[in-house]
Amino acid sequence: MDTDSAMEVDLTGGSASAEPSLPENNSPDLMREGFKYFKRRKPPPDLSNVIDFDQCEAGGLHGNVKPYQVLIPDDRTAFQELGLVHPQEWKAFSLESHPGMILLRNPFTAAGQRHWAGRCVRDLPGHPNKTNLDAQGLLPPGGNWWKHCLDGVDWERLKKLRWVTLGFHHDWETKLYNLCDRSPFPSDLARLASLLAGCVGWPSYSPEAAIVNFYHSDSTLAPHTDHSEWDMTAPLLSLSFGQSAVFLLGGRDRSQAPVALYLRSGDVLVMTGPSRLSYHAVPRLMPATDARWHDGKRKLSADCCGQPKLARVAAAANGDVTHHRDVIRCECESGGRGGGGGTDPVIEYLSRSRINVNVRQVFPRGLMLRPEDP
Ligand code: OGA
Ligand code: MN
Repeated sequence: MDTDSAMEVDLTGGSASAEPSLPENNSPDLMREGFKYFKRRKPPPDLSNVIDFDQCEAGGLHGNVKPYQVLIPDDRTAFQELGLVHPQEWKAFSLESHPGMILLRNPFTAAGQRHWAGRCVRDLPGHPNKTNLDAQGLLPPGGNWWKHCLDGVDWERLKKLRWVTLGFHHDWETKLYNLCDRSPFPSDLARLASLLAGCVGWPSYSPEAAIVNFYHSDSTLAPHTDHSEWDMTAPLLSLSFGQSAVFLLGGRDRSQAPVALYLRSGDVLVMTGPSRLSYHAVPRLMPATDARWHDGKRKLSADCCGQPKLARVAAAANGDVTHHRDVIRCECESGGRGGGGGTDPVIEYLSRSRINVNVRQVFPRGLMLRPEDP
């Protein structure tokens, strides 16, 4: 993310904050106005024109919304392994007003959502990845934030985690990628991102950097464009888990009035083509209307794993889980990450907060200057 504007509630954990620049020719900053409108508490904004892709599914296609046909790659087993339902079942949409914006409406299974959310909150915030906690000295070197907080079940402390960067680390000060500051991009997330990119017509996608954002009830993300990548043709993939959000998508400058849409758990927003460099923002979190991370069919009781609640919480906090494909199919059998009892701390996290995984390709494919893999 490249914030060239004020962070209302600063997701960067306190680093980037500057006054928004006015659009050229002194034309009105409609992006900023839209942001302020949807962020407003009193009186609350009118949400009736927020595009709801759930309603589109029910047959009421909004004037601006078109169905989008995903491409189905050959490797059919990969979907299951990555916690996705088969693409034949996916609902995908594009917008007449914003060519290049594609919305894959929750292609994940419930277990898949829990798995990826778990990766984000439990496994990724720590060395060698970077977090906003590093500068604050909140986490002892080599420590695991999840374990650190859940040992005492401290949700308030857990909320201090605002972002994690993966792969080429985005430098929040210079707003650039530092070629010398790179850690391995998690291979499972790379596989997921590549597969998703293939489904939207980008078969040779190379996920090289990601920002994982953690939003709590009042968090917002101010209008910005993501233009720090050397390759700005490759799609930007944005995965959402947990609570819902109002997302604003504008144009190449701030004078274009944005459209507002709901992003819900499991949704994948793709910004490519003419929309790759569009302004966007998250002015508001919304309570999830359905807990898509729960298995409807698989009603798991609080004692589904035969362990008392606190023992399971501790087991999960200790990283006492495996991340192989079976986990994605049925976490409960692996002993520690139940699917429906509401006692699993990952599920608890999803019912309180929002996770956004923002994946980018940094370099053009085949660029010889590409630094060696770490
Ligand atoms: C970003 C971003 C959007 C979201 O991280 O650059 O735009 O939906 N995130 O959280
Ligand atoms: Mn962004």
